Amino acid sequence: MSVVSLPPTPGHARHYAIVPAAGHGSRFGSETPKQYLSLLGRPLLHHTLAVLCACPAIDRVFVVLAPDDDWWGGFDWSALGSKLETVRQGGATRAASVQAGLAAAATAAADDDWVLVHDAARPCLSASALNQLLQTLADDPVGGLLAVPVADTLKRSDQRDRVAGTVPRDGLWQAQTPQMFRYGLLRDALQRFPDVTDEAGAMEATGHVPRLVRGELANLKVTYPADLALAERLLATAPRG
Ligand code: C5P
Repeated sequence: MSVVSLPPTPGHARHYAIVPAAGHGSRFGSETPKQYLSLLGRPLLHHTLAVLCACPAIDRVFVVLAPDDDWWGGFDWSALGSKLETVRQGGATRAASVQAGLAAAATAAADDDWVLVHDAARPCLSASALNQLLQTLADDPVGGLLAVPVADTLKRSDQRDRVAGTVPRDGLWQAQTPQMFRYGLLRDALQRFPDVTDEAGAMEATGHVPRLVRGELANLKVTYPADLALAERLLATAPRG
């Protein structure tokens, strides 16, 4: 089913960012939640928030924390400025945490405004990839996401880690964040389909067709310890302004 949306009034939409940061990062295997691990002397989350707070097009940045988060208060976030707002209502799933962020934005956001949902664990988003997303989707009725076409040959494994088959990679992309959708559409989609692993999944389930905007491999999600070292090298060699 394809849903037809009326085009929004150009130029009037505001942009709000939501950063779900209420996960415990169990795959990382560290006592410290991965968003608070040290990256070039700052919490990983600081780098993630910095690029969003520095973007002139973004009005406010809502960072969604777990209600029992004892880490946030231990760091200095003042360099990020006044756009930043904490929401201590993270949920049991990423989608629940995003919904808490959407609820916090409700007093400011109109249905046609944009919401950019960005993983706390992606500290290497570049300003140019962010701008590419904003510009490509500016007149889009629905929205879309940063993604990169799959370059490697894909193998499906059996239970013994033997190859069970080769998966054609034609037309396959790796979904990244930010994922940028109209506020009202995303709120309604996540209410109807909360069991998704990303916002685009909820939009697709509702019948919308999100646009894929080519991003950068460097916008990796820190999931395992080796990713942290890689993120550190990437940030050190390509500092953001
Ligand atoms: O665990 P994973 O890396 O897939 O999480 C993606 C993002 O969702 C992270 O930024 C994480 O902090 C966030 N998350 C959340 N609330 C949860 C689970 C994950 O905000 N309950």
